[in-house]
Amino acid sequence: MAAVLRGVLRPGAARRRLLLPSPLRPLPGARCCSAGAPFQYLAVQKTGARQSVGVIRLERPQALNALCEGLMKELGQALETLENDPQVGAIVITGSQKAFAAGADIKEMQNKNFQECYSSNFLAGWDKVSTVRKPIIAAVNGYALGGGCELAMMCDIIYAGEKAQFGQPEILLGTIPGAGGTQRLTRAVGKSLAMEMILTGDRISATEAKEAGLVSKVFPVEKLLDAAIACAEKIASNSKLVAAMAKESVNAAFETTLAEGTKTEKRLFYATFATDDRKEGMTAFVEKRKANFTDS
Ligand code: CAA
Repeated sequence: MAAVLRGVLRPGAARRRLLLPSPLRPLPGARCCSAGAPFQYLAVQKTGARQSVGVIRLERPQALNALCEGLMKELGQALETLENDPQVGAIVITGSQKAFAAGADIKEMQNKNFQECYSSNFLAGWDKVSTVRKPIIAAVNGYALGGGCELAMMCDIIYAGEKAQFGQPEILLGTIPGAGGTQRLTRAVGKSLAMEMILTGDRISATEAKEAGLVSKVFPVEKLLDAAIACAEKIASNSKLVAAMAKESVNAAFETTLAEGTKTEKRLFYATFATDDRKEGMTAFVEKRKANFTDS
């Protein structure tokens, strides 16, 4: 069984890491993702009975998982690897018990000017998270602030630990959310609460986030990751092909009009009739047995 894995571990770092108490235990049955890249800021594992869940853990504890350029680059690489892994049907992104992520790295941003931001298309690389076709669950314990909240909102489902706190405090730094916060938060919780959070910088609790529709479920801190993995495993047991279509269709609701969205849905619904898995699913129902999906 794999211990705590940082992608493919650098030998020295591995030994050092294993001596440290980890707030999150290694996942049972977890295996190192075949990622190959030596990650500095992430631990990547595959877990579940069929190794069908990819778990990405942000590991930059000294900065409360602040999303520096290097971390986001690695996150893109890890997502790409899991996206291309046919065994993986769903992905969980998590952090530590103290912080999912405390935002973009303020120290990296402190001395940037407009020209640098504009010409480097600053933060544009973060969009990778929202273009992954496999379902992604954010398992949020602790702080999800600024870019951390935005990262969670780029995922498809948010599960929260009881002590999670969500916020867009950029206004307190003299700036505004820059990775989708003004758009995704508003769509998730409505104008009034989004405005209040973004204009005051105030945080909301896990319970408030659940009431507002930002998160779908709240769990005791210790149980959060297991619950997220169980949900991911359930998703991964369905047809991966059809799950991607379902995700695409739900996402259309955020991108377009109702008329266009329902058209997209209809096209994708018809498209499922071109798959073996649709045939298998309905045949299995009629034959009163469990469907055996082949992702084809
Ligand atoms: N960037 C860089 N470093 C950060 C950071 C961030 N976003 N958040 C925390 N850190 C660092 C701190 O500087 C500190 O490092 P040092 O020990 O070297 O000083 C370490 O993490 C621990 O932080 P604190 O001592 O502040 O911990 P705390 O428990 O007292 O407070 C906190 C926790 C309330 C989350 C506080 O750290 C905080 O307010 N962080 C900033 C949150 C924030 O403003 N996020 C938005 C960033 S802007 C953004 O994200 C733009 C965007 O839309 C993409």
